[in-house]
Amino acid sequence: MKLTNTITEYGFISKIFHWLSAAALVIQIPLGFYLVDMDFSEKRLTIESIHVTLGLSIFYLTLFRLIYKTFNPTPVLKHNIFPGQKIIAKLNHVLLYAAVLVITISGALKKLYNGEELNMFLFNLEIQDNFNLAEIFYEIHIIGNYTLIALITLHISAVIIHKIFFKENLLKKIL
Ligand code: HEM
Ligand code: HEM
Repeated sequence: MKLTNTITEYGFISKIFHWLSAAALVIQIPLGFYLVDMDFSEKRLTIESIHVTLGLSIFYLTLFRLIYKTFNPTPVLKHNIFPGQKIIAKLNHVLLYAAVLVITISGALKKLYNGEELNMFLFNLEIQDNFNLAEIFYEIHIIGNYTLIALITLHISAVIIHKIFFKENLLKKIL
């Protein structure tokens, strides 16, 4: 397996980025929903701190992934199975990246506008509190999450549909 992408194949680095992000999100989304249902306690603070640390790790991972993507070719999608199929696939990929960035940035802004200090790993951030904006960014965080769940469902359904109806194994491209 090649380390970097070619125009026909994903390399090892892209595959690692893909599966690390997928694994982190599979933990992070349920963790977020679990967190909001908890009453205030030591355990809640620990879970929230894990959620924030994992969330910021996903943010940096996605940034590195996108920077890497600009220096490296993206494998071309094969022929259209039906009109517009390649556009839908591309749009799904772009929106997956966008949703992850919107969720992580809105989560961070929710905490910051709540007047909390945020450890961004390399530096600490703190801004003037604004509870109205904190509420708005939290709404964005929630809507972003439902959008991401829909996009991931579509993404995985596409792989299954390709396999069953078009006898095309997309999964081996990314494994
Ligand atoms: C079981 C779960 C998953 C499966 C089976 C899967 C499968 C795939 C496959 C087969 C491709 C290559 C598509 C192609 O080039 O034809 C791909 C690409 C991609 N996947 Fe997934 N995926 C999964 C989870 C996720 C998750 C959770 C995300 C959320 C961020 C994600 C984001 C992406 C992105 C952004 C690409 C495009 C990469 C690029 O070219 O920039 N995937 N995935
Ligand atoms: C891709 C990364 C992330 C995902 C998938 C995610 C997911 C979630 C989900 C599903 C919820 C529950 C929303 C609800 O139904 O009320 C939530 C809540 C929350 N998230 Fe995230 N999150 C991510 C990143 C972050 C980041 C980076 C931060 C902060 C730096 C953050 C801070 C919070 C906070 C403070 C809550 C609300 C807890 C509460 O006050 O009850 N999240 N998140």
